Amino acid sequence: MKWKLAKTATLAAICALITAAPAAADEARGRELISSLGCKGCHQFEGSGGTLAPALDGTGERFDAERIRKQLTEPGSLNPNTMMPSYSHLPEEELKSLVDFLAELK
Ligand code: HEC
Repeated sequence: MKWKLAKTATLAAICALITAAPAAADEARGRELISSLGCKGCHQFEGSGGTLAPALDGTGERFDAERIRKQLTEPGSLNPNTMMPSYSHLPEEELKSLVDFLAELK
């Protein structure tokens, strides 16, 4: 009955792949947005970027998703003198990808 075991193992591997795929895609999207939107002009992230603002590494350890969203859409409400531009013009899909990605950075 060895084949049955192999079949079960294959099925388990396929299931693992299917459940892991969306997370990997979200991470790639998060990194892509941080680069394409120019966040690194001010923020360090994963070893490169500017030094005008706190590094984005570990953002999720310091802030929850709600606070991160506010930072992106209404930075002026958190610090009236902030240099950070508002990203409230972004499509919701991009905002959500960014917020989810940053909230998971731990
Ligand atoms: C022109 C510079 C600039 C750009 C561009 C910028 N930020 Fe910021 N950001 C800041 C500054 C400065 C702060 C520190 C808080 C403040 O002064 O408002 C900050 C704070 C933050 C924080 C809170 C971090 C902390 O530890 O306090 C997050 C998260 C953040 N920015 C994300 C982003 C993302 C994501 C982008 C790109 C979509 C971005 N920022 C683009 C300047 C910038």
